[in-house]
Amino acid sequence: MTETRFTPRVFSGIKPSGGLTLGNYLGAIKRFVAMQGGGFETIYCVVDLHAITVWQDPAGLRDATREVAAGYLAAGIDPARSILFNQSQVSQHAELGWIFNCVARVGWMNRMTQFKDKAGSNAEKVSLGLYAYPSLMAADILLYHATHVPVGEDQKQHVELTRDIAAKFNHDFGVEFFPLTTPVIEGPATRVMNLRDGTKKMSKSGESDMERINMTDDADTISKKLKKARTDPAPLPETLDELEGRPEARNLVGIYAALADMTPEAVIAEHAGAGWGTFKPLLADLAVEKLAPISTEMARLMADPGEIDRILGQGAEKARSIAEPILRQTYDIVGLLRS
Ligand code: AMP
Ligand code: TRP
Repeated sequence: MTETRFTPRVFSGIKPSGGLTLGNYLGAIKRFVAMQGGGFETIYCVVDLHAITVWQDPAGLRDATREVAAGYLAAGIDPARSILFNQSQVSQHAELGWIFNCVARVGWMNRMTQFKDKAGSNAEKVSLGLYAYPSLMAADILLYHATHVPVGEDQKQHVELTRDIAAKFNHDFGVEFFPLTTPVIEGPATRVMNLRDGTKKMSKSGESDMERINMTDDADTISKKLKKARTDPAPLPETLDELEGRPEARNLVGIYAALADMTPEAVIAEHAGAGWGTFKPLLADLAVEKLAPISTEMARLMADPGEIDRILGQGAEKARSIAEPILRQTYDIVGLLRS
């Protein structure tokens, strides 16, 4: 299928389930900002319908939705150049999600590693929504005929499933209607790890706040967390290959590279032989320089929730104007009668 007939369009989303982390920033938001004005239409979403696949306190969900929106804005997403909205204000997501529940196969869902990880031994008790979630994610993307989806490494399998859903829909109905979306998983920080255990992903939830950097952390907190990050006794090596088997060291080099817009190779070349007593303060200063202005701006934005709500509302209106015709055509293809 030729994909050239599709407008180059980026879609991505972040769940408002708890606060934003450095992983969200480096693995997602910073890269979303870089894609603005790069020959793509850019659409960024706060995916609140995904958040409720696990219980969310209603008032907390509204606050977290505004916080993710503030994170996008503070980091440089410009509502004049990108469409920025929260998912539940565009009902077409849920409607296309249902169609895709009827396209995706149970066997496909059973292979989703994130579901297996999240459900764990509790698989009988989690919500049906958590299981069906990748099908809603496919709807988020394909509702806009998005051609490119920037995400962190952990979302690769879900974007591949999105391609499978598009291909099966096109095949079942004999159309070339949905594009086969390309996952964009690039740069030195597509998987930022936990600061206390370099074998675990940095995530919004976790026992200790010291294991992650929150986008709302102030300068002192950012600096303290990085200086206390777990490391091993060896200094930085001469080559990247020698970081093999040193997950904490590898992670701090990746974070430095992403913050400084360098490759990990260049970071190693510059700091080979440095001990942690030298490298960690440099990393802490760099992180404070890049992140503290964002957390300050987030606080400013969060003080005026009405303004955030207004921006999301305007974004939702623009999103709907793309989504509605695509949903209508989908219904027609499927044979759903319209009077
Ligand atoms: P979530 O917060 O789970 O909705 O994730 C939103 C986006 O951030 C997705 O593209 C994730 O892949 C990305 N992301 C989340 N955590 C990390 C991490 N530790 N490292 C890199 N990317 C991440
Ligand atoms: N599933 C993604 C996550 O947990 C969030 C998400 C929902 C998303 N819909 C999306 C990401 C569409 C990219 C495109 O991180």
